[in-house]
Amino acid sequence: MLRVGLIGAGGIAGVHALSYENIKNVKIVAVADIIPEKAEYLAKKFGADVLDHGDKIIARDDIDVVDVCLPTYLHYEYVLKAARAGKHVLCEKPMASTVEQGIEMIKETEKAGVKFMTGHVLRFFPEYVSIKKTIESGSIGTPKVVRGYRGGAHPGRITKWYGDVEKSGGAIQDMLIHDIDFLRWCFGPVKEVYAKGNVYKRVQYLEYDMLTLEFESGLIAHLTADWSKPEGGSFATRLEIAGDEGVLSHDSDDEISLNAICQADKTSVGGGVAVPESPLDPLSVPFTREIMGFMNAVSNNEETPIKPIEALRTLNIALAALESIKENKPVLVKEVF
Ligand SMILES: NC(=O)c1ccc[n+]([C@@H]2O[C@H](COP(=O)([O-])OP(=O)(O)OC[C@H]3O[C@@H](n4cnc5c(N)ncnc54)[C@H](O)[C@@H]3O)[C@@H](O)[C@H]2O)c1
Repeated sequence: MLRVGLIGAGGIAGVHALSYENIKNVKIVAVADIIPEKAEYLAKKFGADVLDHGDKIIARDDIDVVDVCLPTYLHYEYVLKAARAGKHVLCEKPMASTVEQGIEMIKETEKAGVKFMTGHVLRFFPEYVSIKKTIESGSIGTPKVVRGYRGGAHPGRITKWYGDVEKSGGAIQDMLIHDIDFLRWCFGPVKEVYAKGNVYKRVQYLEYDMLTLEFESGLIAHLTADWSKPEGGSFATRLEIAGDEGVLSHDSDDEISLNAICQADKTSVGGGVAVPESPLDPLSVPFTREIMGFMNAVSNNEETPIKPIEALRTLNIALAALESIKENKPVLVKEVF
């Protein structure tokens, strides 16, 4: 049985908590939040202890794994604290605020001999897993061009720290990082980024950024991060991948959220369904799969499904995009260690 301490009991912790309810051999023993009522709300699901500060989770010796669901600017501090206390650590994305922080987090977790994973949950979404498998099957040929969109209302309306780019990294580092990670997972290293956007203009509750990524393979991706929807506006994701033998598209607003049109298979023209898992199966929920993947790695002393260096490389690309906006020029993506 792995004993988990959850630090931060805000929005995403609530989603993690729902997942933990369905995972065997893992028990949440304590939940901490500086607003104890929030911790109490989640802790009661598990009969867990309520603590009023993350440090109190770190100090407990009956906890094997720390799940960091804190605002982004606190990831570095708490991953280091957890590692130094000898605890395995699952931390929400983005990995950190800077590449330097990420490097130190990797070194410290390695030194402590603990498992460390950043929750790039898109890798566990059935649609995205199907996209990757379809690409690998070769049915759309060699992918050449990608267009992606992720957007909704500005989260800073409800949770203030998201509105401070120093704390959240804005829509690119906080949200579009999902797609950056997914594309890097599918297509490998990115060579250059050119981005435009108003992330540093500090327009209240309105951020809109556009990125062009050139991969080392020659593939070009155009991605949009949109935090401009009115309050309550619906969240949407889209991804279109064109290869030299077909096109694959996903739109979260469509009833069939994944379509493939392949030249080699004329029968699939007009749309093919490719979302295999039943959403009613609680174990197919992406966050549940992500947490289970991490816990299995801890239990079996295996490599985590997302290696720390991968999360660092993804962060590096997101930060290069921010630099491109700041400097108003294309930025070469430098190797991280
Ligand atoms: N994977 C995803 O799809 C996804 C979705 C949403 C958020 N996130 C990420 O999850 C992280 C948390 O986001 P959120 O929306 O849940 O934020 P949130 O502000 O809703 O929750 C954070 C909680 O941490 C608490 N907190 C702050 N300092 C603390 C401390 N020292 N000790 C204990 N508690 C403390 C706050 O009181 C708050 O309740 C962010 O990094 C965000 O980017 C990921």
